Amino acid sequence: ASIPTIKIIDAKNYVGQTVKIGVWLRQKRGSGKIAFLQLRDGTAFFQGVVVKANVSPEVFETAKELKQETSMYVTGEIHADDRSSFGYEMAVQDIQVIGESHDYPITPKEHGTEFLFDERHLYLRHLKPFATLRIRNTLIAATYEFFNNEGFIKLDAPLLTGSAPEGTTDLFETDYFDHQAYLSQTGQLYAEAGAMAFGKVFTFGPAFRAEKSKTRRHLTEFWMIEPEMAFMHQDESLELQERYVAFLIEKVLERNDQELDILKRDKELLRSYTKLPFPRVSYDDAIKLLQDNDFDVKWGVDFGSPEETFLANHFSKPVFITNFPKAIKAFYMKRDPKRDDIVISADLLAPEGYGEIIGGSERDTDYDYLKSRIEEQGLSMDDYGWYLDLRKYGSVPHSGFGLGLERMVTFVTGEDHIREAIPFPRMTHRLRP
Ligand code: 4AD
Ligand code: MG
Repeated sequence: ASIPTIKIIDAKNYVGQTVKIGVWLRQKRGSGKIAFLQLRDGTAFFQGVVVKANVSPEVFETAKELKQETSMYVTGEIHADDRSSFGYEMAVQDIQVIGESHDYPITPKEHGTEFLFDERHLYLRHLKPFATLRIRNTLIAATYEFFNNEGFIKLDAPLLTGSAPEGTTDLFETDYFDHQAYLSQTGQLYAEAGAMAFGKVFTFGPAFRAEKSKTRRHLTEFWMIEPEMAFMHQDESLELQERYVAFLIEKVLERNDQELDILKRDKELLRSYTKLPFPRVSYDDAIKLLQDNDFDVKWGVDFGSPEETFLANHFSKPVFITNFPKAIKAFYMKRDPKRDDIVISADLLAPEGYGEIIGGSERDTDYDYLKSRIEEQGLSMDDYGWYLDLRKYGSVPHSGFGLGLERMVTFVTGEDHIREAIPFPRMTHRLRP
C-alpha cells in the first residue's frame, strides 16, 4: 500500500502506521546514537525520533546536520508518546530535505519584543503567534456563524471614504484624484444604510485610526465587526451583544484546547464569562462607584485604562457601562428622551484589564437634530447628505455596535499587548514588515 501523507494534528488516527508529513524543524537535540527533532507543520507540534541503529547511515547523517527551519518530508511510524502533551510522536525512517535554512535569526534563546516584531514574518512560525492567531481565526469563523444563524447579511463597507464619523482628530488622509479621502474609521454609516435595505447586517473589515497615543490596546489598523439592526432598540441590542460574546468564547473553548494550553489561559475562568447576562451599570453609577473607591473622576470625563480595569474587575465579568455623556460620544448616538446630557449607548468592558471590547448605541432618527450635530462638529453636509437621507425615507428605530477583533483576541488569549493579536500589527512606530 502507498504511504499516506498526513498532517500532524491527525497523527492520532494513524498509530502503528507509516506516514509521510511535510514539516519544518523547530529544534533538535540528541547524541551520537539518537536525534530528537522538534517538528511543526502549521497544525500542531510533535517530535520525530531518529535512532541511528534503525535508519540508513545517510538518513542519520542528514538528521544530525538539520538546521532550524529546514523544511522536509519525514516518513515513519506513529507511536503514542505519553511524555509529551501532544501524545504522539514519529519513529523517523526517512528524511527528504526540501528547503535548507541557514542562520535563522530567531534562536531558542530569549529575544526582545521589538526584535521579534521586526522579524514578524518569521516570528509567525513560533508557538505564541501560532496559538494566538489560530484563536483569532476561530473568532472570525464564529462571527460569520453567529450572524448567519441570526439572519444577518454581511455588508461590505468601503474603506476609502469622505466621512469621519468617529471624530476628525485621528484621520488618515489620502489623495483621491482631485479630492481628499480618508481611510475608513468605521463602516457604521454604511451599515445603517444596509440595515434599512436588509433589516439586519454586519460589516467586518479593517478600520484605520491615526492614534498618536502609544498604548498596549491601540493599533492604527484594526479589524472591526459592526452589526446594525433595524427595528431594534438598545436593550435588545445589548442582549444580542452578550450572546455574541458568549458564543465567541464558547467556540474558542470548543475548538482551541491545544492553543489555550500553549498560552496557559485559564479555561474555567473563560467559561465563567459565558454565563449571561452581563451586568449593566449606568455611567452615572459607574462614576459614583469610582469616586467611592478613591478615583479622582468627575461626571463628564471619559474613562481611562485604570478606570475601565477597576470597573470590569469589580464585577468579575464583562460589564456594560450604559448611557454616557453626550459630549464625549459620536454625533449619531440617540439622545435620552428624559435627559439631554446623555445618549443611549453602551461600552462593553472586559475583565482582567483588557479594556473596551465593544462600543455601540441606538442611533438618533431625527433629521434636524443630526443635521445640527453634523454642523456643530464642523463636518460637511456634502459628505453626510446621503446619511441624512436615511432619516427622510422611512426611518425606523435602529441600533448597532462595533466589536474590536484584536481587543477580543487579547481578552480570550490572555495576551497583554494588542500587537500579538494581529498577523502584521500597524502602530505609530511600526509599518514593517
Ligand atoms: O467605540 P468605537 O470607536 O465605536 C465605533 O467605531 C462605532 N462606529 C461602532 C458601532 O457602533 N458600529 O470602536 C469600536 C471598538 C472598540 O470598542 C474597540 O474594541 C475597538 O473597536 N477599537 C480599537 N481596537 C484597536 N485599536 C484601536 N485604535 C481601536 N479603536 C477602537
Ligand atoms: Mg468606543
